[in-house]
Amino acid sequence: MKKLLDLISEELEKAFEAAGYDASLGKATWSNRPDLCEIQCNGAMAGAKLYKKAPIMIANDVASKLAESKTVTDVEAVAPGFLNMNISEAFLTGYVEKMGKADKFGLESVKSDKIIIDYGGPNVAKPLHVGHLRSAVIGQCIKNLCTYVGNDVTGDIHLGDWGLQMGLIMTELRHRKPELPYFDENFTGEYPKESPFTLAELEEIYPAASAKSKEDEKYKEEAMNDTFMLQKGDKGRVAIWKHIMALSIPDLKRNYENLNVSFELWKGESDTGEIINDMVERIKAGGFAYESEGALVVDVKEESDTKEIPPCMLLKSDGAALYTTTDLATLDSRRKLYDPDRVIYVVDKRQEMHFTQVFRCAKKTGIVRDDTKLDFLGFGTMNGKDGKPFKTREGGVMRLEILLNDINEEMYKKITDNREVDEKEARDTAKTVALAAVKYGDLSNQATKDYIFDVDKFTSFEGNTGPYILYTIVRIKSILAKYASLGKNADDAKLYLDDNGCSKQQKNLMIGLTRFAASIESAYDELAPNKICAYIYDLANSFNSFYHETKIMTEEDEKKQEGYIALLVIVKRVLEDCISILGFSAPEKM
Ligand code: ARG
Repeated sequence: MKKLLDLISEELEKAFEAAGYDASLGKATWSNRPDLCEIQCNGAMAGAKLYKKAPIMIANDVASKLAESKTVTDVEAVAPGFLNMNISEAFLTGYVEKMGKADKFGLESVKSDKIIIDYGGPNVAKPLHVGHLRSAVIGQCIKNLCTYVGNDVTGDIHLGDWGLQMGLIMTELRHRKPELPYFDENFTGEYPKESPFTLAELEEIYPAASAKSKEDEKYKEEAMNDTFMLQKGDKGRVAIWKHIMALSIPDLKRNYENLNVSFELWKGESDTGEIINDMVERIKAGGFAYESEGALVVDVKEESDTKEIPPCMLLKSDGAALYTTTDLATLDSRRKLYDPDRVIYVVDKRQEMHFTQVFRCAKKTGIVRDDTKLDFLGFGTMNGKDGKPFKTREGGVMRLEILLNDINEEMYKKITDNREVDEKEARDTAKTVALAAVKYGDLSNQATKDYIFDVDKFTSFEGNTGPYILYTIVRIKSILAKYASLGKNADDAKLYLDDNGCSKQQKNLMIGLTRFAASIESAYDELAPNKICAYIYDLANSFNSFYHETKIMTEEDEKKQEGYIALLVIVKRVLEDCISILGFSAPEKM
């Protein structure tokens, strides 16, 4: 469907033309003074120079051509030459009615690219902590958004499962249990099926090893050697690696499920093991790589750079792969397997330099097509109320699971406070609302900025919060349920416009609905979920003022009541589509 503003612009173009001026001057914009008018056009101001005429004269000429318009009303030329106007209520109602019937409310598919989104990025063997929240929440939303506007999208978790952390675990394990067969080079039998450690042990082993490696140079070298041996395919190390994966992945899956986050692909750095050699050889043969202090590197600086961009390292001096190597090889295999038009990385913004190097190297060496779009969506840090990275009360790293549990509890208390409720139902509702609180709290901020994780604010039912949005949807659901209980069918309800027109609040709500497509498109163009949040916050506010101003269930005129119900149905559907893009849903009651 054409956008409402474009339809109004078409009307204005005709009027400019009919008045003898250039049609292109007729451009409608939303008024920046909604107290004066809904729509404005500044074409007469621009026309003044062109026609050497006072702008107010042009504006008057055009206004007179719009007197009979069915699209706009109250057209007024105001000094020095602005055109102010309102939208015709009948035209607006008709537009909203069409939106209600159209697929995705008339949003035209903007794109049909093949996109891979790289998000999540947890490192196996380490429990998910709050640092992983943003990539999961923003990544899932970007995936939903890209899908909604018509792309073919695949999400890839890109596990960190091939780097030094793997070697560290192996080193520590050998120190603790040297008798294990995995470390015996002469062992020829079958390795045990049973893992030599539990998940809980694993989660303790890694930080212990990491701490030791920072103090003990020899220990660190051992870990680097273990990493290298694993990457070279050493049998014993690969067997331990498999145990780690078998324990970690189900745990990760469970955690992401709780966040309503999912991935089509569970690939990782380790999947590049076998293709790295071939890729490196190709890059060498292309003449792109050279040796620098023993390491193999590719220059990626460009003339227009204003800061130093160091060469992209392909292999360390000992021949080991690095983070850049696995990311390049992943792009290489993504091209072979999926040939994407675009790859979007949702990763902590502190990794920007890494991705600048990887993207440039991939383009320069032909790993990706020239026209493949590579985007880095870097996000800021989630801070505590003290403005420092979010920690537990004791100052430790907060596990994601604990954080979510705390918020669930908080929400449960709010929901059950002073109320008789069914325990199970209240638990479920609390979980749904808590997730909305966390996700909306994150997504409503511009992704690149740091933000403060404020539990009290995020879980509030008032203000720009997830629970407020859900509360609005639940309010609509409850009105619709009442309507249905009278034996009437809300889905068949038709919008209605009284001869006396509609209230200001109703009009405002309808205008809000018409802004859906533009809001989704700009969120997509800028990869900015916060634009969707801003849109639904406005829409929810418009709905709530309409609700407070309007007797809906006590309205005696049946046609009028049906019209309100029809409007509510569309508002609810728009809000629901938006929150489903954001990655959460509304309960039945709350
Ligand atoms: N595992 C990485 C980390 O914890 C994040 C991975 C991001 N994705 C990527 N393709 N590099 O820092």
